[in-house]
Amino acid sequence: MNVNVRQNDISHIVHADKEHVWHHLTQHSKFDTVDPLIIVEGEGMRVWNQTGREHLDAVSGGVWTVNVGYGRERIANAVRDQLVKMNFFGGSMGTIPGAMFAERLLEKMPGMKRVYYSNSGSEANEKAYKIVRQIAHNRSGGKKHKILYRERDYHGTTITALSSGGQDERKAQYGPYTPGFVEVPHCLEYRAQFDTDEEYGIAAANAIEEVILREGADTVGGLILEPVTAGGGVIVPPEHYWPRVQEICRKHDVLLIIDEVVCGMGRTGTWFGYQHYGVEPDMVTMAKGVASGYAAISCTVTTERVFDLFRANPDDPMSYFRDISTFGGCTAGPAAALENMSILEEENLLENCTEMGNYALERLEWLKSRHDMIGDVRGKGLFLGAELVADRETKEAVHESVTHTVVAHCFAQDAVIIGATNRSLAGLNNTLCLSPALICTKDDIDEIITSVDGALKAVAAV
Ligand SMILES: Cc1ncc(COP(=O)(O)O)c(C=O)c1O
Repeated sequence: MNVNVRQNDISHIVHADKEHVWHHLTQHSKFDTVDPLIIVEGEGMRVWNQTGREHLDAVSGGVWTVNVGYGRERIANAVRDQLVKMNFFGGSMGTIPGAMFAERLLEKMPGMKRVYYSNSGSEANEKAYKIVRQIAHNRSGGKKHKILYRERDYHGTTITALSSGGQDERKAQYGPYTPGFVEVPHCLEYRAQFDTDEEYGIAAANAIEEVILREGADTVGGLILEPVTAGGGVIVPPEHYWPRVQEICRKHDVLLIIDEVVCGMGRTGTWFGYQHYGVEPDMVTMAKGVASGYAAISCTVTTERVFDLFRANPDDPMSYFRDISTFGGCTAGPAAALENMSILEEENLLENCTEMGNYALERLEWLKSRHDMIGDVRGKGLFLGAELVADRETKEAVHESVTHTVVAHCFAQDAVIIGATNRSLAGLNNTLCLSPALICTKDDIDEIITSVDGALKAVAAV
């Protein structure tokens, strides 16, 4: 059959998908009775599925990625022009967009100096872990090799990235895991784990130090944290948390890695989430919003101090970073990222993110005042969550089926796509997630809130 005819035959596309594509995070038995959804087109905040139905996307491509919205011809053109000129060369050589994007990115990250390219958030974090491990081998015979991660945080899907994942359900059945990763407690005050007279942020940070001391500071080389936890329930850290974390890392000579895979590139209203808190990281990883999903790109950014450790001993043949990521040499990523950054600047999208984020948070508070099922709302910029409970007093979480019903109701009734914590935390998959593109308007937010309002009403009435 002629390929073009096939491409225009949407029923064939649905059939091909149903027969041959293994979807992410999906139990496929449901496709025995319903068709998979195919997203065919996108423009601004909206996408269209195979039936022609228009949806308002409140989650930037499902997984907080398309920060500048759909249908950006200038990004597509920049990528096209670059691909025709020079599509790829392995990363031991430079490329024009690679050099230019690194320079522009670092202008937004005072104190940071080097950019290492790869192609997914998981991979960017793996690079950071390898850097910690190699430094440990060179400085302490491998002793200071342990990497701490936080309960409820997520850093990726590969076995080692999952080894540093703080989500029990996400990890279940995929072990055994890479040794040398140790969990520290989460900092969500709504689900407080510390009975303390101190500020909660200080207590939660001190819990990290306790783990360092328990493990032995001479064995701990790195700590990885999300600035605001994403898939673990949109956790905005309490006041005083970050400065204390920084102090603890410095005191014990622990490299601080900040995972900006979700928060990076404006999602919380600053270029990077850590910039809200005055933190000075040793490494920063990023992916999703870096090119808004127009091309695959991730970066592991380090300070000059970290970078210097890998060039200090040219006589030692093993002392440089002996790592490669084939697709880190694709030029589409940095070409798209450059254009993406220009759009964020020219359209003042960081400012819009802050303004619309504040508005959305107000509207979520209003929803909370109407629905006992909302136990807590939280967020920063256009990165928001509402935690659903069966009982406000005891904070007992709703069953995950209730969360899913709310999401499904918004989708079916109003064609609004919202998200939720997804088979991540046993008994706590109860947070609705909103992360619209940074171009969104008050009207978009009103439409989203009205939809969630209707869904909560419908679910409460059952
Ligand atoms: C905070 C965080 N880090 C890392 C990752 C992994 O990124 P990727 O799926 O691109 O490997 C994710 C993905 O959702 C994430 O949310």
